[in-house]
Amino acid sequence: MSGETLLAANVFAANLFDVRGLSVLVTGAASGIGFGHAEVMCANGAHVTLVDSEPGSLDVAVARLQGHAGSAVGVVADVTDPATLEAAVAGAVERRGRLDVLFANAGISAGPGFLKGDGSRNEAGALENLSLATFDRVLAVNLRGALATLQAAVPAMKRQGGGGRIIVTTTVSLLRTETLVSTLYVASKAALGQLVRQAALELARYGILVNGIAPGPTITQIGGGRLQDPVARAPFEHAIPMHRLASVADLQGAALFLASPASAYITGTQIVVDGGSCLGSAD
Ligand SMILES: NC(=O)c1ccc[n+]([C@@H]2O[C@H](COP(=O)([O-])OP(=O)(O)OC[C@H]3O[C@@H](n4cnc5c(N)ncnc54)[C@H](O)[C@@H]3O)[C@@H](O)[C@H]2O)c1
Repeated sequence: MSGETLLAANVFAANLFDVRGLSVLVTGAASGIGFGHAEVMCANGAHVTLVDSEPGSLDVAVARLQGHAGSAVGVVADVTDPATLEAAVAGAVERRGRLDVLFANAGISAGPGFLKGDGSRNEAGALENLSLATFDRVLAVNLRGALATLQAAVPAMKRQGGGGRIIVTTTVSLLRTETLVSTLYVASKAALGQLVRQAALELARYGILVNGIAPGPTITQIGGGRLQDPVARAPFEHAIPMHRLASVADLQGAALFLASPASAYITGTQIVVDGGSCLGSAD
């Protein structure tokens, strides 16, 4: 088969974005962005292991994915407990024979920032009042938890040969500063950005590609679901050039892209999905 013929086959969207049959694991999959990633994979024929620390919502999430082209299995695990992650990965490998795609997505908020939505100061978010106990918790989930998730998956990806994809949910706060989001959260995710780059650098020789999806404010359950409240949401909407927050669906295209052959030469980068918020405010 000539090179031209191969190229022609690969220009079809069905081939470029083909994730059918892939073994995928998503952490924080019971809600929000992680559920959206699990859904787009499952709907397009992948076999998805949904991992979450909340058994009740995990059961509901798995039930919602029945009837799709792929399959969905739920495993209770906590990213702060590496042994549970290792068991979740081992289960996925046992079921499907390999692990092709990992979404390291689980994460938590550290509360509001140093300004309130009306522009006044939020004393609880002031630097000198930030809780070190909250920082420990946020680092344990958002940073240490993500590292532990990669550590659980990488040996399986190396063993199987043929590479793999690791997609980390970061945030647009890697690239900009925040007034309405806690400095503790921003700091935890800033370190995560460099973890993505370091992992991408080290794992490229094994064909394992590591990238981040960096969402802007997205309507999910994070922070007690505060972005579901139109009043709490309004200052974010005002600041974003597109004047709306992301929905989970807005992130599914990036997830499919980074899991599929279409992104075969991309590693160590962040795909920003933020309605233009990194550009600054317009009107
Ligand atoms: N929503 C946003 O505005 C936004 C923006 C940028 C980045 N993010 C990131 O997206 C990711 C997903 O957040 P979301 O907004 O979908 O929130 P969410 O609260 O709707 O979902 C998070 C899920 O992670 C699970 N989880 C939390 N701690 C866990 C742990 N220790 N172990 C296993 N599972 C755990 C929760 O049970 C929940 O099901 C996070 O990493 C978050 O920082 C969110």
